[in-house]
Amino acid sequence: MKRIEFHDREREAKEIMDILDSEPSLITFVYGPINSGKTTLVNNLIDRLPEDYKVFYINLRGRFISNYDDFIKVLFDVEHETRYERIKEFLGPVVRVLPESYYGIPIPKDVFLKLFKEKEVEDAFVYIETVASAFYESGRVPVLVIDELQVIGDMKIDGLLTYKLFNFFVRLTKELHLAHVFVVTSDSLFLEQVYSEAMLKGRCRYLLVDDFDAVETTAFLSKYGFTDDEKRVALEHCGGKPVCLLELIRAGEKQKLVKKMLATRINQLKDLLDYLDYIKPKIMMGDAEYLVEKEDVVDTLSRFTDAEVIDDRGLNRPAKQFLIKDNILFLDPDTGIIKPQSRLDLLAIREVLEDV
Ligand SMILES: Nc1ncnc2c1ncn2[C@@H]1O[C@H](COP(=O)(O)OP(=O)(O)OP(=O)(O)O)[C@@H](O)[C@H]1O
Ligand SMILES: [Mg+2]
Repeated sequence: MKRIEFHDREREAKEIMDILDSEPSLITFVYGPINSGKTTLVNNLIDRLPEDYKVFYINLRGRFISNYDDFIKVLFDVEHETRYERIKEFLGPVVRVLPESYYGIPIPKDVFLKLFKEKEVEDAFVYIETVASAFYESGRVPVLVIDELQVIGDMKIDGLLTYKLFNFFVRLTKELHLAHVFVVTSDSLFLEQVYSEAMLKGRCRYLLVDDFDAVETTAFLSKYGFTDDEKRVALEHCGGKPVCLLELIRAGEKQKLVKKMLATRINQLKDLLDYLDYIKPKIMMGDAEYLVEKEDVVDTLSRFTDAEVIDDRGLNRPAKQFLIKDNILFLDPDTGIIKPQSRLDLLAIREVLEDV
């Protein structure tokens, strides 16, 4: 099997390093289309960070979170015996800042659980803040990274959790300048919602991790012996989507694979449009519910017949939200620009619309 090395991301890595070099002051949203390489970039950087930083990386993907308690457990990784290490890691510096009587007393797992189980989420925040300041004072800047945070949005736990969490992040960054906070997600609707609900104006910054551009894609493929023709085919179909390029690198017959990938995407999109002949999905906006009409979806998609990116002027809002939610379109919450999630999606949209 071919081993694929981490490629490029110099600009994004530099941006993140510049942030880490300065005093924590804003929450950083690392965002981008699905499968653009956000998690990979963040993990690559974490591996290379010097000892002056203490990173807490929490990935919420695949974790079942339906209430505060679940969230706290995930935050501290308590359900995994093997990862119990994280708790001990937290406890190390904490004993130094706790009152004398706590010194040296290890906190066993059951006590730890009891401590948080029936308590409010704020208790956990106080705890994390204490840990963060202990690291800070010992000369190591804490870096809190929460990956796939949209999980808590999907679960519709309680709007308050998101609000409380982000207020806590504002406290760690803008108010106390104690820890860097990175929130990584591909869910731009969730980001928009968090931005307004948690009142983040002037308290956050956006850092885009997009698919590779054409130059970087070509450089990436050159490392794996692609001919000029194969590079052209790859760019035409995968654009710079790392996960798609990886499949091509591993494939023998590249042309055959891209045709198959495109055919799959076209079928999925056709199926979706067919489904809309029967069902009108519901979209919530504020407290009101709106029905998504197929003709508005088609109209929105038709904007991509001769454009790769659009803005949302004149777009039907429920249709737009639906296509973003369904991961066909990607909305850049920073610039307002909308584009298909991938090059394959763009090609499939153009192909399918010819028959509508
Ligand atoms: N810079 C890179 N160099 C080499 N491979 C990469 C790079 N970035 C991403 N990949 C590969 O692409 C795949 C998808 O990347 P990753 O999971 O990081 O994307 P993501 O943006 O976090 O996705 P999601 O939106 O689902 O969270 C991974 O298998 C990874 O190995
Ligand atoms: Mg990811």
